Amino acid sequence: MSRKIKKSVTTKTTVKNAKYYQEEMLRLFEQKAGKYSVKEIFNDWLEWNFMTMEAMKGFSIEEFRNTIYRLLKKYSKEDFEDFQKINDLLEEGIVKTQEDILGVVFMKMEPNKKLGQFFTPTCTCELMTKLNHSDFVDLKKVVEETDVFEVGDPTCGGGAMFINYYVNAKKEGIDTDKILFRGMDIDRRCVMMAILQMELLEMAGEVQWGDTLTRKMYGKYITSKEYVKRYGRTKLLMNMLMYHKMVDEIMKEMAA
Ligand SMILES: C[S@@+](CC[C@H](N)C(=O)[O-])C[C@H]1O[C@@H](n2cnc3c(N)ncnc32)[C@H](O)[C@@H]1O
Repeated sequence: MSRKIKKSVTTKTTVKNAKYYQEEMLRLFEQKAGKYSVKEIFNDWLEWNFMTMEAMKGFSIEEFRNTIYRLLKKYSKEDFEDFQKINDLLEEGIVKTQEDILGVVFMKMEPNKKLGQFFTPTCTCELMTKLNHSDFVDLKKVVEETDVFEVGDPTCGGGAMFINYYVNAKKEGIDTDKILFRGMDIDRRCVMMAILQMELLEMAGEVQWGDTLTRKMYGKYITSKEYVKRYGRTKLLMNMLMYHKMVDEIMKEMAA
């Protein structure tokens, strides 16, 4: 008598949570290390993204040019393709999970412990948001009655608190277009991370690079959403056209 034997098939599904995106990004950064350290590559990748965002808004053009020339000399076409893969992971990760993706990646890159660079995990951000607004009803009313409602974090890091506040306010049907997230950090890399992550979530944000204690300020940056509110969409589109023209010129110059 023949007996049918059921074959057990094991399948592995990957849960694409924040940890997945953070680990994948770290893996790509680590793979690139050799000539340069992981930390240096991360900083360059961050700078490249940040300066691109600045130039698209028509800001820091000279600094953008210098950064691009420096990075084009330092990295190959394949390196930039890998940078783009890291960007894709960040974008997909932050949009899908709505969590601070870069904070954990940054913490693996020798953060400055003296500056307390330990970023708040999502569950703690969630608790703090809920402690501030147990039912969001009051906030909804306040936001409706004001033109701009400001949410501040004087030591914003990569913007973990902002992201969680935004996500919860959105869930509660609050008009998040009216919320301006205003942050400050003494470390420029944190400023860049906060702007980049808020940009990807289409949040209106302004982050100052400076010392909250001494009030010494080195720079002030805004997201595109905030740019459009202040200067209009047409101006942003014009700046983007100028940016693409400038990149074409740089590429031609480098190829010559
Ligand atoms: C504990 S982390 C918190 C970051 C963020 N709020 C979060 O919840 O993830 C503290 C942050 O404060 C910044 N920092 C430390 N001293 C500062 C100062 N004097 N002025 C502004 N930022 C400072 C650090 O660079 C770091 O990003």
